[in-house]
Amino acid sequence: MTSTTPIAAPLARLLIVDDEASQMTALCDVLEDIGYATTGFTSGVEALQHLRKEQFDLVVADLVMPQIDGIALLREAQAIDPFLLGIVMTGHGAVDTAIAAMQAGALDYVLKPFRLSVIQPVLARALSVRKMRLEIAELQERLRQHVTELELANKELESFSYSVSHDLRAPLRAISSYSSILVQDYSQEIPDGARKLLTKVTANAHRMAELIEHLLHFSHLSRQVLKHDTVHIGEMVAGIVEELQKEENARPLQVSVGSLPAATGDAVLLRQVFINLLANAFKFTRHTAAATVEVGAKFEDHETVYFVRDNGAGFDMRYAAKLFGVFQRLHAASEFEGTGIGLSLAQRIVQRHGGRIWAEGAVGQGATFYFTLSPPSDAAVQPASTPR
Ligand SMILES: Nc1ncnc2c1ncn2[C@@H]1O[C@H](COP(=O)(O)OP(=O)(O)O)[C@@H](O)[C@H]1O
Ligand SMILES: [Mg+2]
Repeated sequence: MTSTTPIAAPLARLLIVDDEASQMTALCDVLEDIGYATTGFTSGVEALQHLRKEQFDLVVADLVMPQIDGIALLREAQAIDPFLLGIVMTGHGAVDTAIAAMQAGALDYVLKPFRLSVIQPVLARALSVRKMRLEIAELQERLRQHVTELELANKELESFSYSVSHDLRAPLRAISSYSSILVQDYSQEIPDGARKLLTKVTANAHRMAELIEHLLHFSHLSRQVLKHDTVHIGEMVAGIVEELQKEENARPLQVSVGSLPAATGDAVLLRQVFINLLANAFKFTRHTAAATVEVGAKFEDHETVYFVRDNGAGFDMRYAAKLFGVFQRLHAASEFEGTGIGLSLAQRIVQRHGGRIWAEGAVGQGATFYFTLSPPSDAAVQPASTPR
Protein backbone atom coordinates (compact mmCIF):
# COMPACT_ATOMS: atom_id res chain seq x y z
CA MET A 1 0.00 0.00 0.00
CA THR A 2 1.39 3.39 -0.91
CA SER A 3 0.24 6.56 0.74
CA THR A 4 0.23 9.66 -1.40
CA THR A 5 -1.17 12.60 0.50
CA PRO A 6 0.52 13.57 3.74
CA ILE A 7 -2.60 14.99 5.24
CA ALA A 8 -1.95 15.72 8.86
CA ALA A 9 -4.85 15.84 11.26
CA PRO A 10 -5.58 18.51 12.37
CA LEU A 11 -4.61 20.36 9.21
CA ALA A 12 -0.98 21.43 9.16
CA ARG A 13 -0.78 25.22 8.94
CA LEU A 14 1.64 26.63 6.40
CA LEU A 15 2.73 30.22 6.08
CA ILE A 16 3.73 30.85 2.45
CA VAL A 17 5.79 33.93 1.60
CA ASP A 18 6.80 34.85 -1.95
CA ASP A 19 7.10 38.35 -3.37
CA GLU A 20 5.75 37.14 -6.70
CA ALA A 21 2.01 37.09 -6.12
CA SER A 22 1.22 34.57 -8.85
CA GLN A 23 3.75 32.06 -7.54
CA MET A 24 2.49 32.51 -4.01
CA THR A 25 -1.17 31.97 -4.90
CA ALA A 26 -0.33 29.01 -7.12
CA LEU A 27 1.57 27.30 -4.34
CA CYS A 28 -1.17 28.01 -1.81
CA ASP A 29 -3.80 26.55 -4.13
CA VAL A 30 -1.82 23.39 -4.86
CA LEU A 31 -1.11 22.78 -1.19
CA GLU A 32 -4.70 23.48 -0.15
CA ASP A 33 -5.76 20.87 -2.71
CA ILE A 34 -3.72 18.20 -0.99
CA GLY A 35 -5.01 19.06 2.44
CA TYR A 36 -2.86 21.75 4.00
CA ALA A 37 -4.20 24.97 5.50
CA THR A 38 -2.26 27.78 3.87
CA THR A 39 -1.97 31.53 4.41
CA GLY A 40 0.00 33.48 1.81
CA PHE A 41 1.84 36.80 1.85
CA THR A 42 3.89 38.67 -0.72
CA SER A 43 5.65 40.68 1.95
CA GLY A 44 7.86 39.20 4.65
CA VAL A 45 7.10 42.05 7.02
CA GLU A 46 3.37 41.40 6.80
CA ALA A 47 3.93 37.68 7.20
CA LEU A 48 5.84 38.31 10.44
CA GLN A 49 3.09 40.59 11.72
CA HIS A 50 0.58 37.84 11.05
CA LEU A 51 2.78 35.26 12.77
CA ARG A 52 2.53 37.24 15.99
CA LYS A 53 -1.25 36.73 15.95
CA GLU A 54 -1.63 33.21 14.59
CA GLN A 55 0.30 30.00 15.02
CA PHE A 56 1.80 28.04 12.14
CA ASP A 57 3.62 24.75 11.75
CA LEU A 58 5.89 25.67 8.85
CA VAL A 59 7.07 28.74 7.01
CA VAL A 60 7.79 28.27 3.32
CA ALA A 61 9.64 31.40 2.20
CA ASP A 62 11.17 32.59 -1.03
CA LEU A 63 14.88 33.14 -0.59
CA VAL A 64 15.30 36.32 -2.61
CA MET A 65 12.80 39.02 -1.74
CA PRO A 66 13.01 42.82 -1.42
CA GLN A 67 12.69 44.36 2.05
CA ILE A 68 13.47 41.21 3.99
CA ASP A 69 15.00 38.08 2.46
CA GLY A 70 14.09 34.48 3.24
CA ILE A 71 16.94 33.94 5.71
CA ALA A 72 16.21 37.04 7.78
CA LEU A 73 12.51 36.20 7.66
CA LEU A 74 13.14 32.73 9.05
CA ARG A 75 15.37 34.02 11.78
CA GLU A 76 12.75 36.51 12.94
CA ALA A 77 9.97 33.96 12.60
CA GLN A 78 11.86 31.55 14.82
CA ALA A 79 12.44 34.29 17.37
CA ILE A 80 8.65 34.62 17.56
CA ASP A 81 8.04 30.84 17.68
CA PRO A 82 11.13 28.68 18.36
CA PHE A 83 9.35 25.51 17.23
CA LEU A 84 8.48 26.92 13.83
CA LEU A 85 10.33 25.18 11.01
CA GLY A 86 11.35 26.90 7.80
CA ILE A 87 11.76 25.82 4.22
CA VAL A 88 13.28 28.15 1.63
CA MET A 89 12.42 28.26 -2.03
CA THR A 90 14.95 29.24 -4.61
CA GLY A 91 15.41 29.35 -8.36
CA HIS A 92 17.84 26.99 -10.12
CA GLY A 93 21.43 28.08 -9.77
CA ALA A 94 20.99 29.47 -6.29
CA VAL A 95 21.70 26.22 -4.51
CA ASP A 96 24.70 27.73 -2.67
CA THR A 97 22.46 30.35 -1.12
CA ALA A 98 19.93 27.69 -0.29
CA ILE A 99 22.61 25.80 1.59
CA ALA A 100 23.57 29.01 3.40
CA ALA A 101 19.91 29.33 4.34
CA MET A 102 19.93 25.86 5.82
CA GLN A 103 23.02 26.72 7.79
CA ALA A 104 21.15 29.75 9.08
CA GLY A 105 18.37 27.56 10.39
CA ALA A 106 16.15 26.48 7.52
CA LEU A 107 15.32 22.81 7.66
CA ASP A 108 15.29 22.23 3.92
CA TYR A 109 15.00 23.92 0.55
CA VAL A 110 13.02 23.39 -2.66
CA LEU A 111 13.91 24.51 -6.14
CA LYS A 112 11.60 26.56 -8.28
CA PRO A 113 9.55 25.90 -10.32
CA PHE A 114 7.95 23.39 -7.99
CA ARG A 115 6.97 19.94 -8.64
CA LEU A 116 4.40 18.60 -6.23
CA SER A 117 6.23 15.27 -6.08
CA VAL A 118 9.29 17.14 -4.73
CA ILE A 119 7.68 19.58 -2.33
CA GLN A 120 5.30 17.04 -0.81
CA PRO A 121 7.93 14.80 0.86
CA VAL A 122 9.89 17.88 1.99
CA LEU A 123 6.81 19.22 3.77
CA ALA A 124 5.97 15.82 5.23
CA ARG A 125 9.46 15.44 6.62
CA ALA A 126 9.47 18.96 8.05
CA LEU A 127 6.16 18.31 9.76
CA SER A 128 7.36 15.10 11.34
CA VAL A 129 10.53 16.85 12.54
CA ARG A 130 8.37 19.54 14.10
CA LYS A 131 6.14 16.94 15.72
CA MET A 132 9.18 15.18 17.16
CA ARG A 133 10.68 18.41 18.49
CA LEU A 134 7.41 19.34 20.14
CA GLU A 135 7.18 15.91 21.74
CA ILE A 136 10.78 16.10 22.99
CA ALA A 137 10.14 19.57 24.40
CA GLU A 138 7.03 18.30 26.16
CA LEU A 139 8.92 15.33 27.62
CA GLN A 140 11.70 17.61 28.80
CA GLU A 141 9.17 19.89 30.41
CA ARG A 142 7.47 16.95 32.16
CA LEU A 143 10.86 15.68 33.31
CA ARG A 144 11.72 19.12 34.67
CA GLN A 145 8.43 19.20 36.56
CA HIS A 146 9.04 15.73 38.01
CA VAL A 147 12.54 16.69 39.11
CA THR A 148 11.24 19.85 40.75
CA GLU A 149 8.47 17.91 42.52
CA LEU A 150 10.92 15.26 43.68
CA GLU A 151 13.35 17.85 44.95
CA LEU A 152 10.56 19.53 46.84
CA ALA A 153 9.30 16.26 48.30
CA ASN A 154 12.84 15.35 49.29
CA LYS A 155 13.38 18.70 51.00
CA GLU A 156 10.09 18.37 52.86
CA LEU A 157 10.95 14.87 53.97
CA GLU A 158 14.37 15.97 55.14
CA SER A 159 13.12 18.93 57.10
CA PHE A 160 10.33 16.74 58.50
CA SER A 161 12.78 14.13 59.79
CA TYR A 162 15.01 16.90 61.06
CA SER A 163 12.27 18.57 63.07
CA VAL A 164 10.90 15.26 64.33
CA SER A 165 14.34 14.22 65.59
CA HIS A 166 14.90 17.65 67.00
CA ASP A 167 11.55 17.76 68.81
CA LEU A 168 12.00 14.27 70.23
CA ARG A 169 14.99 15.40 72.23
CA ALA A 170 13.13 17.50 74.81
CA PRO A 171 10.60 14.87 76.01
CA LEU A 172 13.37 12.30 76.00
CA ARG A 173 15.49 14.47 78.23
CA ALA A 174 12.50 14.74 80.57
CA ILE A 175 12.12 10.94 80.72
CA SER A 176 15.83 10.57 81.50
CA SER A 177 15.97 13.17 84.19
CA TYR A 178 12.70 12.21 85.92
CA SER A 179 13.75 8.59 86.12
CA SER A 180 17.16 9.64 87.49
CA ILE A 181 15.44 11.83 90.10
CA LEU A 182 13.14 8.98 90.97
CA VAL A 183 16.08 6.63 91.59
CA GLN A 184 18.05 9.24 93.57
CA ASP A 185 15.37 10.89 95.70
CA TYR A 186 13.18 7.89 96.42
CA SER A 187 15.83 5.20 96.66
CA GLN A 188 14.57 4.09 100.11
CA GLU A 189 11.00 3.65 98.99
CA ILE A 190 11.67 1.91 95.66
CA PRO A 191 11.87 -1.88 95.80
CA ASP A 192 14.92 -3.48 94.14
CA GLY A 193 12.96 -4.94 91.24
CA ALA A 194 11.49 -1.53 90.38
CA ARG A 195 14.92 0.11 90.62
CA LYS A 196 16.29 -2.38 88.10
CA LEU A 197 13.44 -1.55 85.74
CA LEU A 198 14.09 2.15 86.17
CA THR A 199 17.75 1.61 85.29
CA LYS A 200 16.57 -0.05 82.08
CA VAL A 201 14.33 2.94 81.35
CA THR A 202 17.30 5.30 81.77
CA ALA A 203 19.60 3.14 79.65
CA ASN A 204 17.07 2.98 76.85
CA ALA A 205 16.44 6.69 77.00
CA HIS A 206 20.20 7.22 76.61
CA ARG A 207 20.27 4.83 73.68
CA MET A 208 17.42 6.69 72.04
CA ALA A 209 19.16 10.02 72.62
CA GLU A 210 22.22 8.58 70.88
CA LEU A 211 20.12 7.41 67.92
CA ILE A 212 18.57 10.84 67.64
CA GLU A 213 21.96 12.58 67.79
CA HIS A 214 23.21 10.35 64.96
CA LEU A 215 20.08 10.95 62.95
CA LEU A 216 20.50 14.70 63.31
CA HIS A 217 24.14 14.40 62.33
CA PHE A 218 23.07 12.38 59.29
CA SER A 219 20.45 14.94 58.37
CA HIS A 220 22.92 17.80 58.82
CA LEU A 221 25.72 16.25 56.79
CA SER A 222 23.51 15.07 53.98
CA ARG A 223 21.96 18.50 53.54
CA GLN A 224 25.23 20.41 53.56
CA VAL A 225 26.17 22.16 50.31
CA LEU A 226 28.74 20.06 48.46
CA LYS A 227 32.21 21.43 47.72
CA HIS A 228 34.22 20.29 44.70
CA ASP A 229 37.85 20.34 45.73
CA THR A 230 40.76 18.06 45.03
CA VAL A 231 40.90 15.78 48.05
CA HIS A 232 44.14 13.96 48.81
CA ILE A 233 42.65 10.69 49.94
CA GLY A 234 46.00 9.06 50.79
CA GLU A 235 46.90 11.67 53.43
CA MET A 236 43.38 11.72 54.72
CA VAL A 237 43.22 7.95 55.23
CA ALA A 238 46.65 7.87 56.89
CA GLY A 239 45.41 10.41 59.44
CA ILE A 240 42.17 8.53 60.13
CA VAL A 241 43.98 5.19 60.55
CA GLU A 242 46.37 6.80 63.03
CA GLU A 243 43.49 8.21 65.07
CA LEU A 244 41.60 4.94 65.11
CA GLN A 245 44.67 2.94 66.07
CA LYS A 246 45.24 5.16 69.09
CA GLU A 247 41.92 3.98 70.45
CA GLU A 248 42.75 0.33 69.99
CA ASN A 249 44.95 -0.10 73.09
CA ALA A 250 47.67 -2.17 71.47
CA ARG A 251 45.30 -4.73 69.96
CA PRO A 252 47.30 -6.68 67.38
CA LEU A 253 45.72 -5.32 64.23
CA GLN A 254 47.47 -5.10 60.93
CA VAL A 255 46.45 -2.20 58.73
CA SER A 256 47.77 -1.86 55.18
CA VAL A 257 47.04 1.17 53.06
CA GLY A 258 47.71 0.95 49.33
CA SER A 259 48.18 3.90 47.01
CA LEU A 260 45.05 6.03 47.05
CA PRO A 261 44.55 8.51 44.21
CA ALA A 262 43.11 11.95 44.86
CA ALA A 263 39.43 12.53 44.21
CA THR A 264 37.18 15.47 43.45
CA GLY A 265 34.75 16.26 46.19
CA ASP A 266 34.03 17.64 49.60
CA ALA A 267 36.89 16.88 51.99
CA VAL A 268 34.77 17.03 55.15
CA LEU A 269 32.17 14.66 53.77
CA LEU A 270 34.62 12.24 52.14
CA ARG A 271 36.50 12.10 55.40
CA GLN A 272 33.27 11.01 57.07
CA VAL A 273 32.90 8.17 54.53
CA PHE A 274 36.36 6.80 55.29
CA ILE A 275 35.90 7.25 59.04
CA ASN A 276 32.63 5.30 58.94
CA LEU A 277 34.02 2.45 56.82
CA LEU A 278 37.28 2.21 58.75
CA ALA A 279 35.55 2.43 62.12
CA ASN A 280 33.38 -0.49 61.04
CA ALA A 281 36.40 -2.49 59.87
CA PHE A 282 38.10 -1.89 63.22
CA LYS A 283 34.92 -2.68 65.14
CA PHE A 284 33.94 -5.86 63.32
CA THR A 285 37.46 -7.35 63.60
CA ARG A 286 37.48 -6.89 67.37
CA HIS A 287 36.88 -10.59 68.04
CA THR A 288 39.15 -11.78 65.22
CA ALA A 289 42.49 -13.34 66.13
CA ALA A 290 44.87 -12.09 63.40
CA ALA A 291 42.85 -9.05 62.38
CA THR A 292 43.74 -7.23 59.17
CA VAL A 293 42.30 -4.13 57.58
CA GLU A 294 43.22 -3.14 54.05
CA VAL A 295 42.49 0.08 52.18
CA GLY A 296 43.13 0.36 48.46
CA ALA A 297 41.95 1.69 45.12
CA LYS A 298 41.91 0.91 41.46
CA PHE A 299 41.08 2.97 38.42
CA GLU A 300 38.18 1.67 36.35
CA ASP A 301 36.10 3.29 33.59
CA HIS A 302 37.10 6.89 34.32
CA GLU A 303 36.41 6.59 38.01
CA THR A 304 38.33 5.42 41.05
CA VAL A 305 37.02 2.47 43.01
CA TYR A 306 38.16 2.71 46.64
CA PHE A 307 37.77 -0.21 48.98
CA VAL A 308 38.03 -0.94 52.69
CA ARG A 309 38.45 -4.65 53.49
CA ASP A 310 38.62 -6.55 56.76
CA ASN A 311 38.73 -10.17 57.85
CA GLY A 312 36.28 -9.71 60.72
CA ALA A 313 32.76 -10.86 61.53
CA GLY A 314 31.48 -10.40 57.98
CA PHE A 315 27.80 -10.60 57.10
CA ASP A 316 25.30 -12.61 55.09
CA MET A 317 25.35 -11.43 51.45
CA ARG A 318 21.57 -11.79 51.29
CA TYR A 319 21.37 -8.61 53.36
CA ALA A 320 24.13 -6.73 51.55
CA ALA A 321 21.82 -3.98 50.28
CA LYS A 322 20.02 -3.61 53.62
CA LEU A 323 23.17 -2.50 55.41
CA PHE A 324 22.91 0.95 53.86
CA GLY A 325 19.46 1.69 55.30
CA VAL A 326 19.09 4.06 58.25
CA PHE A 327 19.21 2.14 61.58
CA GLN A 328 19.77 -1.17 59.78
CA ARG A 329 22.13 -3.45 61.67
CA LEU A 330 22.97 -7.11 61.19
CA HIS A 331 24.80 -7.57 64.46
CA ALA A 332 23.44 -7.45 67.99
CA ALA A 333 24.30 -4.33 70.00
CA SER A 334 25.52 -6.64 72.78
CA GLU A 335 28.17 -8.02 70.43
CA PHE A 336 29.07 -4.88 68.44
CA GLU A 337 27.79 -1.51 69.60
CA GLY A 338 26.39 1.01 67.15
CA THR A 339 23.35 2.86 65.85
CA GLY A 340 23.19 1.78 62.20
CA ILE A 341 23.66 5.25 60.76
CA GLY A 342 27.28 5.05 59.53
CA LEU A 343 26.73 3.23 56.27
CA SER A 344 23.59 5.13 55.33
CA LEU A 345 25.52 8.34 55.75
CA ALA A 346 28.41 6.96 53.69
CA GLN A 347 25.96 5.98 50.96
CA ARG A 348 24.29 9.37 50.98
CA ILE A 349 27.62 11.17 50.69
CA VAL A 350 28.95 8.92 47.92
CA GLN A 351 25.72 9.25 45.95
CA ARG A 352 25.76 13.02 46.30
CA HIS A 353 29.24 12.87 44.76
CA GLY A 354 27.78 10.95 41.82
CA GLY A 355 29.31 7.64 42.93
CA ARG A 356 28.10 4.19 43.95
CA ILE A 357 28.75 2.16 47.07
CA TRP A 358 28.32 -1.57 47.63
CA ALA A 359 29.44 -4.34 49.94
CA GLU A 360 30.70 -7.90 49.72
CA GLY A 361 31.06 -10.26 52.63
CA ALA A 362 30.51 -13.67 54.15
CA VAL A 363 29.67 -14.59 57.71
CA GLY A 364 32.88 -15.09 59.70
CA GLN A 365 35.05 -14.26 56.70
CA GLY A 366 35.18 -10.49 56.67
CA ALA A 367 33.71 -7.77 54.53
CA THR A 368 34.77 -5.41 51.74
CA PHE A 369 33.11 -2.08 51.10
CA TYR A 370 33.62 -0.48 47.68
CA PHE A 371 32.72 2.97 46.47
CA THR A 372 33.46 5.10 43.43
CA LEU A 373 34.50 8.73 43.09
CA SER A 374 35.63 10.88 40.18
CA PRO A 375 39.33 11.72 39.98
CA PRO A 376 40.25 15.43 39.68
CA SER A 377 39.81 16.27 36.00
CA ASP A 378 43.47 17.20 35.41
CA ALA A 379 45.01 14.30 37.32
CA ALA A 380 43.09 11.49 35.58
CA VAL A 381 44.37 7.98 35.17
CA GLN A 382 47.51 7.29 37.20
CA PRO A 383 47.19 6.22 40.83
CA ALA A 384 48.78 8.14 43.68
CA SER A 385 52.33 6.83 43.12
CA THR A 386 53.11 10.13 41.36
CA PRO A 387 55.29 12.30 43.58
CA ARG A 388 53.75 15.50 44.88
N1 LIG B 1 33.06 -4.23 58.21
C1 LIG B 1 31.90 -4.82 58.48
N2 LIG B 1 31.85 -6.15 58.71
C2 LIG B 1 30.68 -6.75 58.99
N3 LIG B 1 29.50 -6.12 59.04
C3 LIG B 1 29.49 -4.81 58.83
C4 LIG B 1 30.67 -4.07 58.53
N4 LIG B 1 30.36 -2.79 58.37
C5 LIG B 1 29.02 -2.72 58.56
N5 LIG B 1 28.50 -3.91 58.83
C6 LIG B 1 27.08 -4.25 59.10
O1 LIG B 1 26.30 -3.17 58.68
C7 LIG B 1 25.57 -2.63 59.77
C8 LIG B 1 25.38 -1.14 59.59
O2 LIG B 1 26.62 -0.46 59.69
P1 LIG B 1 26.64 1.04 60.16
O3 LIG B 1 25.60 1.77 59.38
O4 LIG B 1 28.02 1.52 60.11
O5 LIG B 1 26.11 0.98 61.63
P2 LIG B 1 26.84 0.61 62.99
O6 LIG B 1 28.29 0.60 62.77
O7 LIG B 1 26.39 1.70 63.91
O8 LIG B 1 26.26 -0.72 63.37
C9 LIG B 1 26.37 -3.00 60.97
O9 LIG B 1 25.58 -3.05 62.14
C10 LIG B 1 26.85 -4.39 60.58
O10 LIG B 1 25.83 -5.33 60.80
MG1 LIG C 1 29.33 2.01 61.77
